[in-house]
Amino acid sequence: MKRLSIVIVALLVIGAALGLFLNRTDASEGQAPVLAGAPVDASVLVRGEYLTKAADCIACHTVPGKGQPFAGGVPFVLPFGTIYSSNITADSDTGIGRWTDDEFVRAVHNGVRSDGQRLYPAFPYTSYTQLSRSDVLAIKAYIFSLPKVNQPNREADLGFPFNQRWAMWFWNAAFFKSERFAADPARPAEWNQGAYLATALGHCAECHTPRNVGFAMEKGNDLAGATLQGWRAWNITSDPKYGVGAWSDQELASYLSTGHADGRGSAGGPMGEAVDHSLQYLAPQDIAALVGYLRSVPPRQGDSPIDIDRKAPWAVSASAAAPATNTAEGHAQGLKLFAAACASCHQWNGQGQQAPYAALLGSRSVNDPDGSNVTQMILQGVNMRVHGNDVYMPAFGKAYTDTEVALLANYVIAQFGNKAGKVTPEMVAAQRGK
Ligand code: HEC
Ligand code: HEC
Ligand code: HEC
Repeated sequence: MKRLSIVIVALLVIGAALGLFLNRTDASEGQAPVLAGAPVDASVLVRGEYLTKAADCIACHTVPGKGQPFAGGVPFVLPFGTIYSSNITADSDTGIGRWTDDEFVRAVHNGVRSDGQRLYPAFPYTSYTQLSRSDVLAIKAYIFSLPKVNQPNREADLGFPFNQRWAMWFWNAAFFKSERFAADPARPAEWNQGAYLATALGHCAECHTPRNVGFAMEKGNDLAGATLQGWRAWNITSDPKYGVGAWSDQELASYLSTGHADGRGSAGGPMGEAVDHSLQYLAPQDIAALVGYLRSVPPRQGDSPIDIDRKAPWAVSASAAAPATNTAEGHAQGLKLFAAACASCHQWNGQGQQAPYAALLGSRSVNDPDGSNVTQMILQGVNMRVHGNDVYMPAFGKAYTDTEVALLANYVIAQFGNKAGKVTPEMVAAQRGK
């Protein structure tokens, strides 16, 4: 905490110095590429609905399960406290019903509330700043067409100096530039559509780009992989070994639009949510544009890169009869637990029962010896609905102790990734709080 405070104070000073030079605001309206799913001749509500889905506003503004759509109240646990997303329904008293168009546009482009206070960048205005004004207003029109919900906002729970919203001015000065998406005329229209979908709307970088000491996305390290809420958002640069360069177009399109690609794994945690609420609704041409854009992201190795040996026999079929060679301590106990709770869905060979979603072989997660995502998956499970089908795995967090979860994670990593898992009960305990 103390170290963080020092970092923040240092940032304020650096920010103040840099701010004078860097805090440029581009007030232009912006020209968005035309998306297949939001054609120009569609009504503003149809476009607004598509854009709101592509930007995944609902994910952070709706409490999972019991919350009213867009009524806010979702907690964001930051290293220095907790903030809650706001009610963005058109309710005049507790939502944003009284906001003018300009106030809404200023919030989305610059992270400033209607009362002039700064918003924290847990709200990814750092990406949405790229949206054209007319797209932002289409989003507003759509959200304002939905039921109003009377639900007061929860105050952020932050200690000094982090509760000082004005201090965000310095952060913005150091790390943020308010600017609209500018199409690259040297690239084909499809590439520009993909770039707009990935940056302004899908904000892939907010999760997949590493952050610097000031929690800002690192420049020049685009999509090289990062960690959030205990999950590793993998390197998705075009690097063939550590990124997704070796995935076929079809595999990438399938993963993004359905949350699964055969032999590559399934989307869980925050990525599962992105597929569930957002990506599955994109038109096939827009998914293709997104894939084309990912291909053009310069290859990078990223921090703690994870390699998958696809020629190895265990990457094709593992079996209980042919035990893994790289086992961690407690493998036999892990096997017993797996037999009792997991094999019915995942099968002994990890190929998945009924639904291919439950296939474990070949995924980045089971090849990560630290097992972040495997641990999170066991603790939280998955519950999403994709193209009309339920994708379900129970949450085992309450059923198992930290020791049991660690044994299970290490078993899965050994059996299906053929690596010695390093998950400890202490790591599991830490993962529970994320
Ligand atoms: C990754 C999570 C996340 C996503 C995605 C997200 N928001 Fe938010 N939003 C937040 C959080 C958290 C806050 C509160 C920030 C604060 O209190 O400083 C917020 C605040 C806001 C506010 C300010 C409301 C007020 O009363 O102060 C508006 C407006 C808003 N969001 C609109 C949107 C729109 C429109 C989208 C989609 C284009 C969107 N948000 C997507 C997390 C998110
Ligand atoms: C809210 C955070 C978040 C956002 C936004 C997000 N991702 Fe992800 N992504 C993740 C996480 C976490 C994983 C790991 C999921 C897992 O292992 O189950 C992941 C996994 C992936 C993978 C699989 C990589 C591999 O090697 O297995 C691809 C591809 C991907 N994301 C692409 C995208 C694209 C493209 C976008 C933007 C349209 C995007 N993601 C937006 C968090 C996010
Ligand atoms: C009811 C069926 C079911 C049971 C029981 C179940 N799973 Fe799953 N599991 C799934 C499905 C479906 C997925 C794919 C979810 C998704 O889309 O991310 C999955 C995904 C996973 C993943 C992530 C795979 C990847 O692609 O990265 C791991 C690891 C995992 N399960 C481990 C376990 C373990 C360990 C157990 C036992 C404690 C277990 N599962 C029990 C259905 C199940």
